[in-house]
Amino acid sequence: MTMSSLERAEAAEHALSQELDRQVVKSAIYTSGERDPRKPTVRQPGKLVMMGDDPRLPRMPERPTLFDFYRLRFAPANHMLQSAKLALKNGVDEKIVLACLLHDISIAGFIRSDHGYWAAQLLAPYVDEEVSWGIRYHQALRFFADESVGYEYPELYVTLFGADYTPEPYIQEAYRYARAHKWYMTSRLITVNDLYSFDPNAQVSLEEFTDIVGRHFKQPKEGLGFDASPSAHMWRTIIWPTKYL
Ligand SMILES: [Fe+2]
Repeated sequence: MTMSSLERAEAAEHALSQELDRQVVKSAIYTSGERDPRKPTVRQPGKLVMMGDDPRLPRMPERPTLFDFYRLRFAPANHMLQSAKLALKNGVDEKIVLACLLHDISIAGFIRSDHGYWAAQLLAPYVDEEVSWGIRYHQALRFFADESVGYEYPELYVTLFGADYTPEPYIQEAYRYARAHKWYMTSRLITVNDLYSFDPNAQVSLEEFTDIVGRHFKQPKEGLGFDASPSAHMWRTIIWPTKYL
């Protein structure tokens, strides 16, 4: 039986992880839930710990751009690309197309829990405040229908969370706050274009959004992670997720 390229890549990765000359001690957030974070971490004495580039991950350029993160660190971003494409088709403002392209980056490359808030914080120094605001609140708005724009509670959420799921009080509170805000529709439009059923086979390329990103995302010349912005450390953690300190 011949190996597929995916199997070969996985085998190579496995071999590489077996011979890592530095040990990786995972951050609490990567194992919490699977193991009790109150237990002490185990470290092999006499072996160096991981610092800097982890050889199991593709190497990032010195001054990484947003697209470098999409290509080298984020899970396949087809969902976000399709949302942005749909937004483009629907003729919304370019800022909203950008918001759709970015809205789930935390799920794709960082942390799932409270992903809207994490994404907003990652992006705040680089986008219009309205864009990061919209991304922050899309997480809550996704749980609440708005008939005026034809947005219904997602069927997918019934499958994912069960029919009896009710959003936590802080999400309900965030929804009420956003509903009354002047930027409500920006955030709402992210949810309107946030469809999983929009032609799942359509392949959308990142390059289709080069111009919109160029116009509305303030790419730092030092590279994301190295510009000393309030979220630079978060981008660095995505570059070096296994760094010991
Ligand atoms: Fe989302």
